Amino acid sequence: MRYFVANWKANKNLNEAKNWLNVFLKIYRPQKEKKVILAPPFPFLALFKKIIDQKKIDLELASQDLSIYEEGSYTGEVTAKTLQGLVKYTIIGHSERRINFNETTNQIKNKINLAINYHIQPMLCLSKTSELIKNQFIPFIVYEPIESIGTGYNKDQKSILLFRKKLNLKFNQLFFYGGSVNKDNIKEYSSRKINGFLIGTASLNPTEFYQVIING
Ligand code: PGA
Repeated sequence: MRYFVANWKANKNLNEAKNWLNVFLKIYRPQKEKKVILAPPFPFLALFKKIIDQKKIDLELASQDLSIYEEGSYTGEVTAKTLQGLVKYTIIGHSERRINFNETTNQIKNKINLAINYHIQPMLCLSKTSELIKNQFIPFIVYEPIESIGTGYNKDQKSILLFRKKLNLKFNQLFFYGGSVNKDNIKEYSSRKINGFLIGTASLNPTEFYQVIING
């Protein structure tokens, strides 16, 4: 099984999100051994879930983050409890959060715990091996080298596999790569040790994203 996660980041308004999904659903055919996960901004998750459930489409949802708080008086926060039942997965510790929002390892650990407690599977993003959290079982580890994110400089398969080797992952931990993956360069990633991809820029256009899935 290979996973394809569309990380939209802070892009699109409601109309653009609806259009994206409309176009995608017209072209999307579930592919054998490929799982497609959409991570739009929080406000679109409920709408996407409704449409996906109604049409019984083989697509899953992820949040791009979740709160360090469980629940309570934290205006503006989106908690794991709120997201339970809405998303199956969550992206945690993306470098854009570590850098722009000063997210710390403790906060990341906290988010992972909360996700797991609320039955949401965390995808932990790392740019350095030292960012791996070892005393918790994390089902998905994503290698996201900062210099490759949104730059067009995707890492080659050899260096991705070298990074993976250094992590000493448990046998049931899946390993993803993210960083300038597109419909052309995804063909370079033939190793079955790369279990999935986080796709940012190339996921913003539904036709292009589908092509990434087809080629990957
Ligand atoms: P990118 O983003 O595909 O635009 O490089 C990847 C990511 O940050 O998840």
